[in-house]
Amino acid sequence: MKGNDSIRSRWLKRYLTAVILLLFIVQAILIVVVNNYYTAGIKANLTSRAGVTASFFSKYIITDTNDLYNSAKTLVYEFVGKEQMEMQFIDVSGNVLLSSNGITPAYKIETQDYQNALKGNTTIYQGRNARTDERIMSAAAPIIDSSGQLYGVVRYVTSMENAMKNVLIVFGISVAIIMIIMIFLLSSGVYFLHSIINPVGHITQSAKEVARGNLNVEIKKENEDEIGELADTLNFMIQELKKSDDIKNEFISSVSHELRTPLTSIKGWSETALATDMKDKEQLQKCLSIIASESQRLGNMVEELLDFSRILRDQVMLNLQPADIEKEIEDVLFMLMDKIKAKGIIISYNPMCSDPDIMIDEAKIRQVIINILDNAIKFSREEGTIKITTQNQDGFAVVQIEDQGEGIKEEELEHVKDKFFKGSSQHHGNGIGLAIADEMIRAHHGMLEIDSVYGEGTQITIRLPEGTEPAAEEPAQEME
Ligand SMILES: Nc1ncnc2c1ncn2[C@@H]1O[C@H](COP(=O)(O)OP(=O)(O)OP(=O)(O)O)[C@@H](O)[C@H]1O
Ligand SMILES: [Mg+2]
Repeated sequence: MKGNDSIRSRWLKRYLTAVILLLFIVQAILIVVVNNYYTAGIKANLTSRAGVTASFFSKYIITDTNDLYNSAKTLVYEFVGKEQMEMQFIDVSGNVLLSSNGITPAYKIETQDYQNALKGNTTIYQGRNARTDERIMSAAAPIIDSSGQLYGVVRYVTSMENAMKNVLIVFGISVAIIMIIMIFLLSSGVYFLHSIINPVGHITQSAKEVARGNLNVEIKKENEDEIGELADTLNFMIQELKKSDDIKNEFISSVSHELRTPLTSIKGWSETALATDMKDKEQLQKCLSIIASESQRLGNMVEELLDFSRILRDQVMLNLQPADIEKEIEDVLFMLMDKIKAKGIIISYNPMCSDPDIMIDEAKIRQVIINILDNAIKFSREEGTIKITTQNQDGFAVVQIEDQGEGIKEEELEHVKDKFFKGSSQHHGNGIGLAIADEMIRAHHGMLEIDSVYGEGTQITIRLPEGTEPAAEEPAQEME
């Protein structure tokens, strides 16, 4: 992703900006602290020297001005700290009478510290030398006798160039450290981002491939992390898509095959009818009735397929009307009579509902009973018995269909209601009968329960809620 809001640009904008800002703040604080440290030390040194020297003169030396000058001369010339600072002895008019440098400046001293000393205060001046423009710091203290008379000023001056150089060195070092930290942050961040962005990019590419319909994509898992988990999940999704694609193709081919049988029969019997002598009413009757029943079968199959596709889209529309559940069962038994007879199956039917009228979508419930009875017949042994009972129980109309067929394996039992699930039995069909039945019953707010013992038989229980009240006013109801 190259847009403005990519992870990379977000990282640069937010995280890196914050870190750089923080580093610069830390650096600024560091410079201020180092600068203060240097200047405060120099300030204290100068002030205490000026104060001590001035009071020394004030207390012991002052007898007359001349004597003061001589004592000062010795002190100034013998001043040991000459290398670091200059000691000046200034008269009240600002003339430097003595300087530890040996050279007395020709100009008058007018700096603020000197002015304050004339007023009796010891203060500091920070600025530039009037002549050399060198950065300096000075402290001046007044020489006052006990009567309060001012004799002159002692002033210590030091160059600040060295201190500034030191601060600049610290500044340089801190800039270098910040650069190193930034380079480290940038490279580690870029490395980290790449370890996320690259696999995500790869996953996006693969997902696009899948979206274009290529299911033969496998997403490479680079690490055992969240992105690795995403890759696993997508691979699983692709596998599932493949499976459902296969199932769909298989289903379409088996459906076409199923449709072809009645169509072939209709075609064959209509050709026979056409070739039949119009006077042979019996033969014509036979042809037409077969064509009618095959058309009916075809119609039912199409209806089933439509229902099935609606189920896949989760939209079962119900047309609820009061109907007799026992009559539905009898109709279905009648419809399936040929199959039942062909296998020699005995039906034991026990209708025990006191009030079999409930609100149902007749066609849908009939379909449910067909699907379940069809299974019971299909999976029953020859000449087996199928027991059907109906009863009212706890506000439900309950229909039970029990066969003595091959039963369902325990591990298959929880899947039999899944769409397209076919059991391991060799008699299985497309695996949609129970899925449709379950969806239909759930759309009716009922329950479909399956109990089975492998090798002994299967019992299916349908529970449909009783009550004939409001549903009559809402003929169509959408399934949730
Ligand atoms: N009465 C039963 N006895 C034994 N096994 C059953 C019974 N009913 C369902 N099954 C098992 O459950 C599976 C799913 O049933 P379902 O009716 O959904 O599909 P099907 O009968 O295989 O195919 P279809 O109903 O679409 O023709 C069956 O394949 C079968 O293995
Ligand atoms: Mg079935």
